Amino acid sequence: MKVLGVASEVQPLIKTGGLADVVGALPPALLAEGVAVRTLVPGYPSVMAKLGKAKKLHRYPALFGEAATLLSAKVGSLELIILNCPAFFTRKGGPYDDASGTGWADNWRRFAALSRAGADIAAGLLKGWRPDVVHAHDWQAAMTLAYMRFGAASTVPKVITVHNLAFQGRFDADVFAALDLPPKAWGVDGVEYYGGIGFLKAGLVSADAITTVSPTYAGEILMPADGMGLDGLLRGRADHLHGILNGIDVAEWNPASDSLLAKPFSHRSLSSRTTNRRMVERSFALDVDKSPLFIVVSRLTWQKGMDLLVDALDHLVALGAKIAILGSGDQPLEGGFLAGADRHHGRVGVRIGYDEPLSHMMQGGGDAILIPSRFEPCGLTQLYGLRYGCVPVVARVGGLADTVIDANEAALAAGVATGIQFTPPDVASLRRAIERAVALHGDAPQWAAMQRAGMKADFSWGRSAARYAALYRSLVR
Ligand code: ADP
Ligand code: GLC
Repeated sequence: MKVLGVASEVQPLIKTGGLADVVGALPPALLAEGVAVRTLVPGYPSVMAKLGKAKKLHRYPALFGEAATLLSAKVGSLELIILNCPAFFTRKGGPYDDASGTGWADNWRRFAALSRAGADIAAGLLKGWRPDVVHAHDWQAAMTLAYMRFGAASTVPKVITVHNLAFQGRFDADVFAALDLPPKAWGVDGVEYYGGIGFLKAGLVSADAITTVSPTYAGEILMPADGMGLDGLLRGRADHLHGILNGIDVAEWNPASDSLLAKPFSHRSLSSRTTNRRMVERSFALDVDKSPLFIVVSRLTWQKGMDLLVDALDHLVALGAKIAILGSGDQPLEGGFLAGADRHHGRVGVRIGYDEPLSHMMQGGGDAILIPSRFEPCGLTQLYGLRYGCVPVVARVGGLADTVIDANEAALAAGVATGIQFTPPDVASLRRAIERAVALHGDAPQWAAMQRAGMKADFSWGRSAARYAALYRSLVR
């Protein structure tokens, strides 16, 4: 079976979050299921720089007014199709925002162009290759399904995966004329969304199947609290909605062979983690001691509950623990953490920025990873933590609820606990969860048992890839 994936991010070429990890790791896992994926991605500078040899597949004299080409390239085991359109994608700054953090004004046009190219491929643009199924990820690719439905590829099965309902791709109604869709595409059953245009919404109404990245999140988004305005639409399409848990790339994230660690280790050599811990303490100017070391690797945002953590910092330090925080995001939150580091030299360490190698070292050296998210579609850092013996302390929401086994009395007695869950996501609960973690950490054999249980759990893509493959097959008649 041939699948066209369409996405704005793919590890290891361009990444702002977990979307890239998933788009990079799912295709190799699907190969074992007899599914060959080619993934269409924008030719951002970091993508073009890492391409190597690429073959020209098609030339657009004017795609939404700009010259563009489709290139084919293989990166590792990934089969990619790149939309090389310098006018849209060769820019300084991020994939969605300029260097000052303001969204690009023409994002609607940039991602309509990506989606248009996806729909053209679905309709048979490329000689000798036409997909049996098209699978779009998030709002940036969602319009692919609308262009298919209202164009020449309407019968090709369409799948959309929602990685985060908070990002919807909403634009003013007046761009409709430039989207090059037929008039009937305007309306509640099309791209219209609360009087404007919703790219994600258009994908959701056009898809034959909707997936999201954990079973619990699939239920949460049917309710107003987490539905972000789309819960009504999703309830209407609940028969077509599937929650399929993300896996992780177990080759990239393998503590026994990870070259980004100072010292690799396995569940049989947990003491080797100390070497990585020293590196983390040094990198964050933290005291070198045996007190519990919490870590955070995260976007610093409201979704991630980072304001709760800012408020819990003093309590964490008062309990005798210390913390290393790596991330970037909202300025007040960055400021809150930096102020915490000023107040608590040696106990609170902060690195504002994005640092992949350091994130591996932190998972390999930290005692516990804190994830107090208000909502979390799946979450990957708790999975990396589990595999690296860095015990997750998480809010009981979304994929966090589905992947961490809380250390309640029964789970501890049965030896199956892998972390700590707390609810609701507020400061008081977070504080209590930190207290529980510190107390459990004081019981060294108990703590090591939790680390080992997490490290032995299987979060490889196998099971979930089989579910995607079965879904594709059910749609191909
Ligand atoms: P989200 O996609 O909502 O940000 P996920 O947990 O699914 O959350 O994925 C986040 C990904 O980005 C993980 O691979 C995590 O390790 C990585 N990451 C987040 N912030 C940083 C950072 N500051 N430095 C390095 N990696 C980061
Ligand atoms: C989104 C979600 C995150 C999820 C990731 C990959 O960024 O916020 O929870 O793990 O997508 O699906």
